[in-house]
Amino acid sequence: MGQNLDHSFKVKDLALAEEGRKKIDWAESRMPVLMKLREEFRETKPLEGQRIAGCLHVTKETAVLVETLVAAGADVAWCGCNPLSTNDEVAAALAANGIKIWAWHGMSKDEYYWAIDKTLEFKPTLTLDDGADLIFRVHSKMPELAENIIGGTEETTTGVHRLRAMDKDGKLLYPIIAVNDTPTKWEFDNVYGTGQSTLDGIMRATSILFAGKTVVVAGYGHCGRGVANRAKGLGANVLVTEVDPINALKATLEGFRVMKMDDAAKIGDVFITATGMKDVITLGHLKTMKDGAIVCNTGHYDVEIQVEALLNYAKSVRTIRPNNEEIIMPEGHRIYLLARGRLVNLAAAEGHPSEVMDMSFSGQLLSLISLANGTVGKDGNHVYDLPKELDERIARLKLKLMGFEIDELTDAQKEYLTAYDEGT
Ligand code: ADE
Repeated sequence: MGQNLDHSFKVKDLALAEEGRKKIDWAESRMPVLMKLREEFRETKPLEGQRIAGCLHVTKETAVLVETLVAAGADVAWCGCNPLSTNDEVAAALAANGIKIWAWHGMSKDEYYWAIDKTLEFKPTLTLDDGADLIFRVHSKMPELAENIIGGTEETTTGVHRLRAMDKDGKLLYPIIAVNDTPTKWEFDNVYGTGQSTLDGIMRATSILFAGKTVVVAGYGHCGRGVANRAKGLGANVLVTEVDPINALKATLEGFRVMKMDDAAKIGDVFITATGMKDVITLGHLKTMKDGAIVCNTGHYDVEIQVEALLNYAKSVRTIRPNNEEIIMPEGHRIYLLARGRLVNLAAAEGHPSEVMDMSFSGQLLSLISLANGTVGKDGNHVYDLPKELDERIARLKLKLMGFEIDELTDAQKEYLTAYDEGT
């Protein structure tokens, strides 16, 4: 592939582009729905004239989305949504293919916000977020940009919660589609994607055997449920901690033992936070853990474990393997902290598998098109769902491309659905 470098970008090393391109080619081969939509929209160009600023993990799957947006007619500027999740090879391949991108693995906090601001210099008409940092930047620092912005999308649970709070307070400056809340996203990405990729990250950082370990999963939302079930499948004894009584009840009826973190802290071998909440594992918990306990997070922000307090308290810290720091506590026991408490699935592994991102990113694509053509967002600056027919379109395409057929309701069955004169 030739190089198109006549644009602004900053990546780690352009020489990595060829390796990155192979990764993207591999992801394309596992993302049939997005590729099918790319084929269609390459002809119809529904995003012609749109400038899209995206702030989302720079992975091989994201590259397939970015290049699909371009094929659909958009001009795109991109940055990562986490300082540790960028794949430098993929970022180089995107830059070499003409994408305006500012992203590299291990950026500082200042560089992270600098990169977001670079995408905003481009005066987007649409924004795409994972965690809402770009949307917040527009709202807090550059509200004048909102005048040109038709709408935005949000990928993750944490981001959607915050945007719904802004909507409730009448603070949104443009409409948002909560891609996270569409069933073809959360029912699969959050559960199976997070489940598998979190364990993948832990395995790469530690190479431990899960069978027989006591694994503590904090949070039994969709992500925690996925993690708990995959750990159980590997033969671990899984404990769940929760604050929500309904989620806690679900966990017990699915066979997991539920207890307070104060109690779980003393008996767990591996701790995984998946709550979206801060201070879930405190320094107090870390002090009571067993020698050798492994601690990591798979929630969006690095606030779930009290990492700074831990590092300040530690007697010594050394990197023992990539993404794995051995912390000797003054009490004498060792704690192994993975990926500095950032998303372990993206920092220590490659994020969710392509097959599941195929659906999530098809939702992103159809959401942006719905905002661009005005079918969503007409009722003002609120948080919207992806229309059900588009969600079903993704599911049907996925099934078809996986080679599965499903039945259809007959007319008599459709009538039966709403009839109230037929009973026992
Ligand atoms: N979030 C979780 N997994 C991801 C992936 N593979 N690409 C982009 N965002 C993700």
